Amino acid sequence: MEPRPRHILTIRDLKTYFPVKRGVIARTVGYVRAVDGVSLFMEKKEILGLVGESGCGKTTLARTVLMLEKPVSGQILFSGKDLSGFRRHELGDLRKRLQIIFQDPVASLNPRMNVLDIVTEGLVQHGMVEGNRESHAARLLSEVGLGRDALYRYPHEFSGGQRQRISIARAISLRPDLIVCDEPVSALDVSVQAQIINLLLALRERHGLSYLFISHDLSVVGYIADRIAVMYLGRIVETGPSGDVMETPKHPYSQALLSAVPAPGVHRKKRIVLSGETPSPMTPPPGCVFHTRCPKVMPVCRREIPKETVSGRHHVWCHLY
Ligand SMILES: Nc1ncnc2c1ncn2[C@@H]1O[C@H](COP(=O)(O)OP(=O)(O)OP(=O)(O)O)[C@@H](O)[C@H]1O
Ligand SMILES: [Mg+2]
Repeated sequence: MEPRPRHILTIRDLKTYFPVKRGVIARTVGYVRAVDGVSLFMEKKEILGLVGESGCGKTTLARTVLMLEKPVSGQILFSGKDLSGFRRHELGDLRKRLQIIFQDPVASLNPRMNVLDIVTEGLVQHGMVEGNRESHAARLLSEVGLGRDALYRYPHEFSGGQRQRISIARAISLRPDLIVCDEPVSALDVSVQAQIINLLLALRERHGLSYLFISHDLSVVGYIADRIAVMYLGRIVETGPSGDVMETPKHPYSQALLSAVPAPGVHRKKRIVLSGETPSPMTPPPGCVFHTRCPKVMPVCRREIPKETVSGRHHVWCHLY
């Protein structure tokens, strides 16, 4: 995948493994292959939804993009620049342009800091406060739908949705290009989820942001994302425009995931229940990693890793195509 000028992010054959240690001398007995050869790209202003079951490696992929985990191999190009070529202290400016919002704002907001300090911490660090710190913070809060009265309050005084708004204000404070949203609405009530999603969409328009939007909830991703990437056991099995992936998923794994999404008004597809457990990411199956659970498995799937098949903007890694 060649990086194009309009790509904000290009990931090539990325692998992130965690050593598994046993015994008193903590000998390495194997590796959890959390991310195992992922290639992806994101365009400027694009929302890429990343979906897949728990443990498939979504958070690890995001943390690697944010340089919070060190990959064992592969490349991450951000705005065309290779992140692995930078040392930590050189990353400052680049790091500013990449921000994250977590699922649990209770854990990600320091309970001892008031909202003013939370949303201006990065601005102060980077010497980016415009005018008076309070009025800068109040402007950020108004962007996320909170009033000036929030400035001197502490995280525990807010509801879950309001806390997520504070996290968003903090994330946009440094005027990033890309925000990784790791399950940002999963802990919220459905009505609050919709408000936060609409806020994220409005901020994308206003600031030309890109989001890598991680969720296990396909109906949320189908609503917010321009394109969807489906992940299984450390690999991407399918990517494509949201409408295509939601309506005509090609990979049997995507088909199974989607068959579980309630679709009101539409004739409900038959639910595909996958047999068996997800294999351990320490010992992924040979060939196609999904073959042990695939309802359409063929002999070749047990031997050969499927290559990418492209039709238009829809990509799939499956021997059926
Ligand atoms: N720091 C770590 N050390 C060892 N193993 C890890 C570490 N972080 C994640 N893993 C393992 O890597 C795999 C992928 O985990 P990850 O958290 O990326 O999945 P996920 O798709 O985000 O799951 P969820 O939907 O539950 O958040 C899992 O098997 C997990 O146990
Ligand atoms: Mg996760």
